[in-house]
Amino acid sequence: MKKALKITGAVLLLVFLAAQLYQPAPNVDKGQPATTDFMQTYADMPAEMKTIIRASCYDCHSNNTNYEWYDYIQPTRSLLVEKHIKDAQEDLNFSEWDSYSQRKQKRLITSIKKQIETKKMPMSSYTLMHHNAKLNDAQIKLLTQWLETQE
Ligand code: HEC
Repeated sequence: MKKALKITGAVLLLVFLAAQLYQPAPNVDKGQPATTDFMQTYADMPAEMKTIIRASCYDCHSNNTNYEWYDYIQPTRSLLVEKHIKDAQEDLNFSEWDSYSQRKQKRLITSIKKQIETKKMPMSSYTLMHHNAKLNDAQIKLLTQWLETQE
Protein backbone atom coordinates (compact mmCIF):
# COMPACT_ATOMS: atom_id res chain seq x y z
CA MET A 1 0.00 0.00 0.00
CA LYS A 2 2.72 2.43 1.05
CA LYS A 3 4.69 1.55 -2.05
CA ALA A 4 1.67 2.21 -4.29
CA LEU A 5 1.27 5.66 -2.71
CA LYS A 6 4.92 6.44 -3.28
CA ILE A 7 4.69 5.42 -6.92
CA THR A 8 1.52 7.47 -7.43
CA GLY A 9 3.23 10.45 -5.82
CA ALA A 10 6.27 10.09 -8.03
CA VAL A 11 4.13 9.80 -11.16
CA LEU A 12 2.11 12.90 -10.22
CA LEU A 13 5.31 14.83 -9.56
CA LEU A 14 6.68 13.81 -12.96
CA VAL A 15 3.45 14.84 -14.69
CA PHE A 16 3.59 18.21 -12.89
CA LEU A 17 7.23 18.73 -13.85
CA ALA A 18 6.60 17.72 -17.46
CA ALA A 19 3.68 20.16 -17.64
CA GLN A 20 6.06 23.02 -16.77
CA LEU A 21 7.83 22.43 -20.08
CA TYR A 22 4.79 23.66 -21.96
CA GLN A 23 4.94 27.45 -21.89
CA PRO A 24 2.94 29.35 -24.52
CA ALA A 25 4.25 32.65 -25.90
CA PRO A 26 3.68 35.36 -23.28
CA ASN A 27 1.34 38.28 -23.90
CA VAL A 28 4.08 40.89 -24.29
CA ASP A 29 4.60 43.09 -27.35
CA LYS A 30 3.15 40.44 -29.66
CA GLY A 31 3.49 42.43 -32.86
CA GLN A 32 2.00 45.63 -31.49
CA PRO A 33 -0.62 46.71 -34.05
CA ALA A 34 -0.48 50.18 -35.55
CA THR A 35 -3.43 51.43 -33.52
CA THR A 36 -3.67 53.99 -30.75
CA ASP A 37 -3.84 52.92 -27.14
CA PHE A 38 -6.68 54.03 -24.81
CA MET A 39 -4.30 56.35 -22.91
CA GLN A 40 -3.15 58.07 -26.09
CA THR A 41 -6.70 58.47 -27.40
CA TYR A 42 -7.74 60.29 -24.24
CA ALA A 43 -4.49 62.12 -23.64
CA ASP A 44 -6.13 64.60 -21.25
CA MET A 45 -7.25 61.83 -18.91
CA PRO A 46 -5.98 62.51 -15.33
CA ALA A 47 -2.53 60.96 -14.85
CA GLU A 48 -3.73 59.23 -11.69
CA MET A 49 -6.48 57.50 -13.64
CA LYS A 50 -3.98 56.25 -16.22
CA THR A 51 -1.86 54.78 -13.44
CA ILE A 52 -4.88 53.05 -11.87
CA ILE A 53 -6.12 51.52 -15.12
CA ARG A 54 -2.62 50.36 -16.04
CA ALA A 55 -2.18 48.72 -12.66
CA SER A 56 -5.66 47.19 -12.40
CA CYS A 57 -6.73 46.32 -15.94
CA TYR A 58 -3.78 46.13 -18.34
CA ASP A 59 -2.54 42.71 -17.24
CA CYS A 60 -5.59 41.20 -18.97
CA HIS A 61 -6.99 43.92 -21.21
CA SER A 62 -3.87 44.94 -23.16
CA ASN A 63 -1.09 43.52 -25.30
CA ASN A 64 1.36 43.73 -22.41
CA THR A 65 0.95 41.60 -19.31
CA ASN A 66 3.23 42.14 -16.34
CA TYR A 67 3.82 38.52 -15.42
CA GLU A 68 4.66 37.46 -11.88
CA TRP A 69 6.79 34.33 -11.28
CA TYR A 70 3.76 32.28 -10.22
CA ASP A 71 1.95 33.10 -13.48
CA TYR A 72 4.33 30.69 -15.22
CA ILE A 73 3.30 27.67 -13.15
CA GLN A 74 1.37 25.08 -15.15
CA PRO A 75 -1.38 24.03 -15.47
CA THR A 76 -2.82 27.25 -13.96
CA ARG A 77 -0.94 29.35 -16.50
CA SER A 78 -2.90 27.84 -19.41
CA LEU A 79 -6.16 27.24 -17.58
CA LEU A 80 -6.41 30.58 -15.80
CA VAL A 81 -3.84 33.23 -16.71
CA GLU A 82 -3.72 32.88 -20.50
CA LYS A 83 -7.42 32.03 -20.69
CA HIS A 84 -8.34 35.19 -18.77
CA ILE A 85 -6.09 37.29 -21.00
CA LYS A 86 -7.60 35.82 -24.17
CA ASP A 87 -11.21 36.22 -22.98
CA ALA A 88 -10.52 39.71 -21.66
CA GLN A 89 -8.87 40.86 -24.91
CA GLU A 90 -11.81 39.56 -26.92
CA ASP A 91 -14.16 41.88 -25.01
CA LEU A 92 -11.83 44.82 -24.53
CA ASN A 93 -8.21 45.45 -25.52
CA PHE A 94 -7.01 48.87 -24.37
CA SER A 95 -3.93 48.56 -26.62
CA GLU A 96 -6.16 48.40 -29.68
CA TRP A 97 -8.71 51.00 -28.62
CA ASP A 98 -8.40 53.06 -31.77
CA SER A 99 -9.30 50.10 -33.97
CA TYR A 100 -12.83 50.05 -32.49
CA SER A 101 -15.68 51.95 -34.13
CA GLN A 102 -16.97 55.03 -32.29
CA ARG A 103 -20.11 53.10 -31.49
CA LYS A 104 -18.16 50.24 -29.94
CA GLN A 105 -15.99 52.69 -27.97
CA LYS A 106 -19.13 54.31 -26.51
CA ARG A 107 -20.57 50.94 -25.60
CA LEU A 108 -17.30 49.90 -23.98
CA ILE A 109 -17.01 53.14 -21.96
CA THR A 110 -20.43 52.40 -20.46
CA SER A 111 -19.49 48.77 -19.88
CA ILE A 112 -16.17 49.73 -18.23
CA LYS A 113 -18.01 52.14 -15.94
CA LYS A 114 -20.51 49.45 -14.99
CA GLN A 115 -17.84 46.82 -14.32
CA ILE A 116 -15.95 49.24 -12.05
CA GLU A 117 -19.07 50.53 -10.26
CA THR A 118 -20.34 47.05 -9.52
CA LYS A 119 -16.81 45.92 -8.51
CA LYS A 120 -16.88 43.05 -11.00
CA MET A 121 -13.56 44.22 -12.39
CA PRO A 122 -10.74 43.72 -11.71
CA MET A 123 -11.69 40.07 -11.15
CA SER A 124 -11.56 38.92 -7.54
CA SER A 125 -9.47 35.86 -8.43
CA TYR A 126 -6.87 38.36 -9.71
CA THR A 127 -6.96 40.84 -6.80
CA LEU A 128 -6.47 37.90 -4.43
CA MET A 129 -2.86 37.78 -5.64
CA HIS A 130 -2.56 41.40 -6.83
CA HIS A 131 -3.68 43.45 -3.83
CA ASN A 132 -2.56 46.73 -5.39
CA ALA A 133 -4.96 46.22 -8.28
CA LYS A 134 -7.99 46.34 -6.00
CA LEU A 135 -9.87 49.63 -6.39
CA ASN A 136 -10.82 51.67 -3.32
CA ASP A 137 -13.90 53.91 -3.20
CA ALA A 138 -11.97 57.08 -4.05
CA GLN A 139 -10.43 55.41 -7.11
CA ILE A 140 -13.81 54.07 -8.23
CA LYS A 141 -15.24 57.58 -7.92
CA LEU A 142 -12.39 59.15 -9.89
CA LEU A 143 -12.73 56.61 -12.70
CA THR A 144 -16.52 56.57 -12.97
CA GLN A 145 -16.78 60.37 -12.88
CA TRP A 146 -14.34 60.69 -15.76
CA LEU A 147 -16.01 57.88 -17.71
CA GLU A 148 -19.36 59.64 -17.36
CA THR A 149 -17.98 62.68 -19.16
CA GLN A 150 -17.20 60.43 -22.15
CA GLU A 151 -20.61 58.73 -22.40
C1 HEC B 1 -7.45 38.88 -14.38
C2 HEC B 1 -7.79 39.44 -15.64
C3 HEC B 1 -8.65 40.69 -15.69
C4 HEC B 1 -8.40 41.91 -15.13
C5 HEC B 1 -7.22 42.32 -14.28
C6 HEC B 1 -9.48 42.77 -15.55
N1 HEC B 1 -10.34 42.07 -16.35
FE1 HEC B 1 -12.00 42.79 -17.30
N2 HEC B 1 -12.38 40.96 -18.07
C7 HEC B 1 -11.63 39.83 -17.86
C8 HEC B 1 -12.26 38.70 -18.51
C9 HEC B 1 -11.74 37.29 -18.48
C10 HEC B 1 -13.40 39.19 -19.14
C11 HEC B 1 -14.41 38.41 -19.93
C12 HEC B 1 -15.49 38.04 -18.98
C13 HEC B 1 -16.32 36.95 -19.48
O1 HEC B 1 -16.06 36.43 -20.58
O2 HEC B 1 -17.25 36.60 -18.74
C14 HEC B 1 -13.46 40.63 -18.85
C15 HEC B 1 -14.44 41.46 -19.31
C16 HEC B 1 -14.45 42.84 -19.11
C17 HEC B 1 -15.38 43.76 -19.71
C18 HEC B 1 -16.49 43.40 -20.64
C19 HEC B 1 -17.72 43.07 -19.87
C20 HEC B 1 -18.87 42.87 -20.79
O3 HEC B 1 -19.35 41.74 -20.84
O4 HEC B 1 -19.28 43.84 -21.43
C21 HEC B 1 -15.06 45.00 -19.29
C22 HEC B 1 -15.73 46.30 -19.65
C23 HEC B 1 -13.92 44.86 -18.40
N3 HEC B 1 -13.58 43.53 -18.31
C24 HEC B 1 -13.31 45.90 -17.78
C25 HEC B 1 -12.21 45.79 -16.92
C26 HEC B 1 -11.62 46.90 -16.22
C27 HEC B 1 -12.09 48.35 -16.35
C28 HEC B 1 -10.61 46.40 -15.48
C29 HEC B 1 -9.75 47.14 -14.52
C30 HEC B 1 -10.39 47.96 -13.52
C31 HEC B 1 -10.55 44.98 -15.73
N4 HEC B 1 -11.55 44.63 -16.60
C32 HEC B 1 -9.61 44.10 -15.19
C33 HEC B 1 -10.46 39.75 -17.15
C34 HEC B 1 -9.87 40.79 -16.45
